[in-house]
Amino acid sequence: MPIHTLPNYWILETRTTAYAFGLNEAGLLTHCYWGQRLTQPGDYPQPVNPMNWASFSGSAHLTPEEYPAYAGTKFIDPCLKITFPDGVRDVVLRFDSADITENDTLSIHLKDDHYPLKLTLHYRVYEQHDLIERWTSIENTGESPITIERIYSAEWHLPRGDQYRLSHLTGRWLDEMHIRREPLIQGIKILESRRITTSHHHNPWFAIDEGSATEDNGKIWFGTLAWSGNWKIAAEVTDFMSTRVNIGLNDFDFAWVLQPKETFTTPSSFGGFTPNGWGEASHILHNFIRDRVLPRGDTLRKILYNSWEATFFDVGEASQIELAKIAAQMGIELFVMDDGWFHKRDLDNAGLGDWWPDERKFPNGLKPLIDAVNAMGMDFGLWIEPEMVNPDSDLYRAHPDWTIHFPTRTSTQLRSQLILNMGRSDVQDYLIGQIDKLLSENNIRFIKWDMNRNVSEPGWPDAPGDQREIWVRYVYGLYRVWQTLKDKHPDVIWQSCSGGGGRADMGILRLADQIWVSDNTEATARLNIQEGFSQIFPANTMEAWVTDAGRGIVPLEFRFHVSMCGTLGIGGHLLHWNENERQEATQLIAQYKTIRPIVQLGDLYRLRSPQENPVSAVQYVSKDQSESAIFIFRTFISEPAQLPNLYLKGLEPEAIYENVKTHERKSGAGWMYAGIPITLNNLQSIIIHLKRSATNI
Ligand code: DGJ
Repeated sequence: MPIHTLPNYWILETRTTAYAFGLNEAGLLTHCYWGQRLTQPGDYPQPVNPMNWASFSGSAHLTPEEYPAYAGTKFIDPCLKITFPDGVRDVVLRFDSADITENDTLSIHLKDDHYPLKLTLHYRVYEQHDLIERWTSIENTGESPITIERIYSAEWHLPRGDQYRLSHLTGRWLDEMHIRREPLIQGIKILESRRITTSHHHNPWFAIDEGSATEDNGKIWFGTLAWSGNWKIAAEVTDFMSTRVNIGLNDFDFAWVLQPKETFTTPSSFGGFTPNGWGEASHILHNFIRDRVLPRGDTLRKILYNSWEATFFDVGEASQIELAKIAAQMGIELFVMDDGWFHKRDLDNAGLGDWWPDERKFPNGLKPLIDAVNAMGMDFGLWIEPEMVNPDSDLYRAHPDWTIHFPTRTSTQLRSQLILNMGRSDVQDYLIGQIDKLLSENNIRFIKWDMNRNVSEPGWPDAPGDQREIWVRYVYGLYRVWQTLKDKHPDVIWQSCSGGGGRADMGILRLADQIWVSDNTEATARLNIQEGFSQIFPANTMEAWVTDAGRGIVPLEFRFHVSMCGTLGIGGHLLHWNENERQEATQLIAQYKTIRPIVQLGDLYRLRSPQENPVSAVQYVSKDQSESAIFIFRTFISEPAQLPNLYLKGLEPEAIYENVKTHERKSGAGWMYAGIPITLNNLQSIIIHLKRSATNI
């Protein structure tokens, strides 16, 4: 039983971690513990009782409350902020009851001590995955509407201390997911998105250590949010040695009018702890995402070809078939036609919204192309960007009011497009109808769902409630459209793309099978981006293409090796590739097929970080430790260069492993502890594939 209830005290235990809280003498729900699992219930600390420290910092401020609502003298960053109909803006929560459902979910019910308001803190324990899910719901049990101005999913408290270091991901379009590590000092560090989507700029993920953690050692407290819209992380260090992280919906420009008898539920936050460094923190998330989040986390992803960087908008039946022929000969399994295929789409300034095949490019619809692709033994996939509309489209001409806009302001166009208001049910129904028709009439097995701009002028003139609800209603609308289509077409594989990695989060991975990580396909840049992505997401979600970026400078093999670290795709102009390139690609694709299960479903070890080393390496080990694939890259070091040994990880020390190519045999201990000498020139890379051998050396 992962949940233990003691009098006014609760302990949540996973395989190796624990989380505890209880009521203190003042009746406040007080955080007590988050870290390694302890042996006895009595080992867990008791709640801190009320104390005062001068008239400037009273008890409410000093108590590490599990979920502090703004009230009284709490000058810390609160989780909840509400205005009641009479203008009162204090929420005084009192413990009411607790219940456990399905063995793994604890609900703590709180009530306001004056107003008809119920708040429930939900905790689900994933015992085997060493993770805790937390979310919050709030119910208006009265007769008048109340206004929610902030409602986070959770507050995660660290053990008392103020010497922590925060790791997070930052970037921009073409340059996503760089790892940043910085000391957390007194004050509040905010990471957020105000862009209506997850964003390229930050990711809703935090990892906190004591300042010296490595890939293999050190305590890490980490968490993330399963949400694809505006989010916020506020990591606060108080002057009283309290460090805590708030995570949830962004309260910037947010309001939600909670009508009588209605309940509002926040997205989920997931939190975990490990004493074993960054690598183990990633393993925990990877395993959880594969096992519990992804719709088909245990299936192998297909090797795809995508036409975008080859043809841009210039697609057509004959030219796509020409590309498909070469793709099929090279061993590609899925052919995806990108942007440019639909009504009047010649450039980015027209067509979005009109989701039927362009009559000039595809006079007989998509069927002849799809039939040809299928006859070559490949599945067919298609690009769409449902949330967008070009003013030059039939859809916009018919429904200009369907866009997000303020009537008295000019709507800013980015890439000549506006955003449909996904909060509206008529917009949702239109999109469901259009895309369902496409999927029903054509044998489409893969959809790339793109989203190419961020929001501006976030108005909703005829909103059902407060216009500021748009931030949340948009995302619920998006989820509804996507989920409805998924349910109707369960065999379709979905990719989440937002100009590359602008929508990579655990919320979207309940719908999407894989993510387009970045529009930057230059291999050396990609090494860093992929390393950042791998902090959270497993390799089977990491779509990576070999394109013509760097062609002539970076060898084809190097470009392939970088993409083979994830779900391999090809995006180069195959008609421009010479016979040698095609042959080499064919061999590399065949090689990828032999290591694909290890990469996509195995454990990842980041051996040498590309952010810190011009010689970097990653290793994948199959779950049964019978095989391993090691990728080593040298970008640039001036000569004469000295290269360090590489030490593998994750193998069984006693077992014998053979290098599939050279037949060199050593024990797991030998590969891991004696090290492998590296001999590589600039822009050279190598894959080592090891297999456990039945016989001794
Ligand atoms: C942005 C995506 O990231 C690209 O891969 C491509 O699909 C373009 N959009 C198409 O407009």
